[in-house]
Amino acid sequence: MDSIVVKGNGPLKGQIPIAGAKNACLTLMPATLLSEEPLTLTNAPRLSDIKTMSALLESLGAEVSSLQDGKVLALSSHNIDNHVADYEIVRKMRASNLVLGPMLARLGHAIVSLPGGCAIGARPMDLHIAALEAMGAEIELKEGYLHAIARGGLKGAVHELRFASVGATENTVMAATLAKGTTVLKNAAREPEIVDLVHCLRKMGAQIEGEGTSTITIQGVDRLNGATHPVVTDRIELGSYMLAPAIAGGEVELLGGRINLLAAFCEKLDAAGVSVTETEKGLMVARKGDLIHSVDVVTEVYPGFPTDLQAQMMALMCTADGTSVLEEKIFENRFMHAPELIRMGANIDVQGGVATVKGVKRLKGARVMATDLRASVSLILAGLAAEGETVVSRVYHVDRGYEHVVAKFAGIGAQIERVKE
Ligand code: EPZ
Repeated sequence: MDSIVVKGNGPLKGQIPIAGAKNACLTLMPATLLSEEPLTLTNAPRLSDIKTMSALLESLGAEVSSLQDGKVLALSSHNIDNHVADYEIVRKMRASNLVLGPMLARLGHAIVSLPGGCAIGARPMDLHIAALEAMGAEIELKEGYLHAIARGGLKGAVHELRFASVGATENTVMAATLAKGTTVLKNAAREPEIVDLVHCLRKMGAQIEGEGTSTITIQGVDRLNGATHPVVTDRIELGSYMLAPAIAGGEVELLGGRINLLAAFCEKLDAAGVSVTETEKGLMVARKGDLIHSVDVVTEVYPGFPTDLQAQMMALMCTADGTSVLEEKIFENRFMHAPELIRMGANIDVQGGVATVKGVKRLKGARVMATDLRASVSLILAGLAAEGETVVSRVYHVDRGYEHVVAKFAGIGAQIERVKE
């Protein structure tokens, strides 16, 4: 199994190109199931999760070709001959549940394995099920599989999500594109990845309004056509790399970055003493002075502070001049990185969903273990500011969401390498 070795090496300098968004691509790919015509996604990220989604779609009968070194995905669902999303694939990646809505809408039936829990939380699918049932689907759980059927096809409905779930919004919006009549989804999630999905669906002929707001209206149509669509920039990859010059010093330009993708996060960086300025090509990030100031953070649904940047922000707060309080409100178990940061000399006290971080003068290198995707990058960031060597194991987590992570950090002067252990 591979590990990543990082040596704190002082200020960083250079540019990092930001890829297309994993969490947009993972919902755009299942949209191919809604049409018999080809869907081409450009600016696609090269990640293991994308390969998993490709394998899932191929298991359903879709064709997925990866072109131009993986940056272009050519998808076609002309012949969907299997409506069962198998546990062996779904258990590897929760986002596999995003085939439920499109399959139900296109085929009128679907059998999708429940993903089960993951490191950061139980992550049930009750909100997805409630929305699809409101559109007339009958859904039953049998032996760990959701058996869904829409007799006579899905029907438009007015439905309010109990919580603005990203996945439930995506499944419902995709399903509603082919439903009879109009669907009004209230308390919908507003994430940029959902806006990107709707832009693609509209190119495919869907009639949708309200993306980016909490009420999305979808007028069902008989069929959707093919399209070509560029995947939106990955705001979480962007935010993760913005923290590199913040935690280690120096100045780095993030190519393709935009403040409007991460406004709440940029506000916190500003308060912490980090300058973020838009350039022609992206964002320039640097410390304003020698010190990082402690700031309090509460994770929220978009446009609030993203939970997917909480672990990375905690790494920065470990080096701040003062005490910060981080509250995780989206997932019930998303502080697994804290004990690993404590191994590096951090001072963190976790009580339920609240972590109190007292900044220390300098972190110290240590052997640490990645527990989930975002935790893995927070440990690499901590290693950039630590004295000595940090060895991060279980880095298969990082491959799920960060392409060429070692090359990108090395490109700005970090002392980092991937080793076989
Ligand atoms: C998406 O997950 C992202 N994944 C997550 O990113 C991200 O953390 C999350 O949204 C929140 O922003 C993808 O887009 C592939 P939710 P999703 O449904 O759709 C509860 C990463 O690091 N809930 O908005 O699964 C759920 O348990 C990943 O890239 C229900 O209770 O998130 C959680 O506590 C991690 N019932 C909360 O809502 C449901 O039916 C938010 O979940 C659905 C969700």
